[in-house]
Amino acid sequence: MNRTTVVDLRKKKAEHEKITMVTAYDATMGRLLEQAGVDALLIGDSVGMVVQGHPNTLPVTLEQMLYHCQCVARGTTRVHLVADLPFMTYQVSPTQALENAGRFLREAQVQSVKLEGGVRMAETIRRLVESGIPVMAHVGLTPQSVHAMGGFRVQGRSEDEAKVVLEDALAVEQAGAYAVLLEGIPSELATRITERLAVPTIGIGAGSGTDGQVLVCNDLLGMDLSFAPRFVKRYARLEEVVVGAVRSYVDEVKSGAFPGPEHAFSARPKEPPEATGPRPAGKLSRLY
Ligand code: KIV
Repeated sequence: MNRTTVVDLRKKKAEHEKITMVTAYDATMGRLLEQAGVDALLIGDSVGMVVQGHPNTLPVTLEQMLYHCQCVARGTTRVHLVADLPFMTYQVSPTQALENAGRFLREAQVQSVKLEGGVRMAETIRRLVESGIPVMAHVGLTPQSVHAMGGFRVQGRSEDEAKVVLEDALAVEQAGAYAVLLEGIPSELATRITERLAVPTIGIGAGSGTDGQVLVCNDLLGMDLSFAPRFVKRYARLEEVVVGAVRSYVDEVKSGAFPGPEHAFSARPKEPPEATGPRPAGKLSRLY
């Protein structure tokens, strides 16, 4: 096994090394993020919003998540892969959760799963962990409960709410979660939880006091510049790069500048296709 394991991730907390996680949904992005040195890729159900165009994550299905996990697994070799369990594939019972979580390890080559919920999911987490399935728990703002929360609202702002989030984090650690994702909570609360837990915390919209950070790759890369929540830092403005590049392509096709002679074939090839060098498996069909 060459991939980063949950043991490696836990060790990072002990060694005070921050953990980096980014979402990925396909082989190409997985490959690029692995190349950039990310510790873990979350195949998040945010795929429902950033890829499928839904207003929330609720419509995402188990089969769709399996498909995206398989894509990312094919594009990567070393990075740790976390599969997000989609809405209603684990909430019904611990047995339902076990059957569905097991499919991700068996059919999609991920190393762990993530599920939303604290105290109420403790029994389920225990069942999965006892069966050899590492679980990352997700507490605070839990997007699958968007309707119950009355929208994507920061959680744990009042003393009472903060107590609930802290109890959730303690319960999932006690149940055996190897890490806890803290989303959309005040920084002071996230820091307090991080100090109380032996397992790593990974934050999004939870300040800098957590053991690691996660961002949605589309947000980090600025693929939708109209989406600018406070917790996101854009490290690129890919929307502009993509639109600019494709605009040039459109202009060049219309003007006749593309394709040029260097992109076209003559009747008798000068050199055999092999002379262009071998391509990795999976790309041969694009070589001609
Ligand atoms: O699905 C997702 O992208 C998430 C985020 C909180 C990282 O769970």
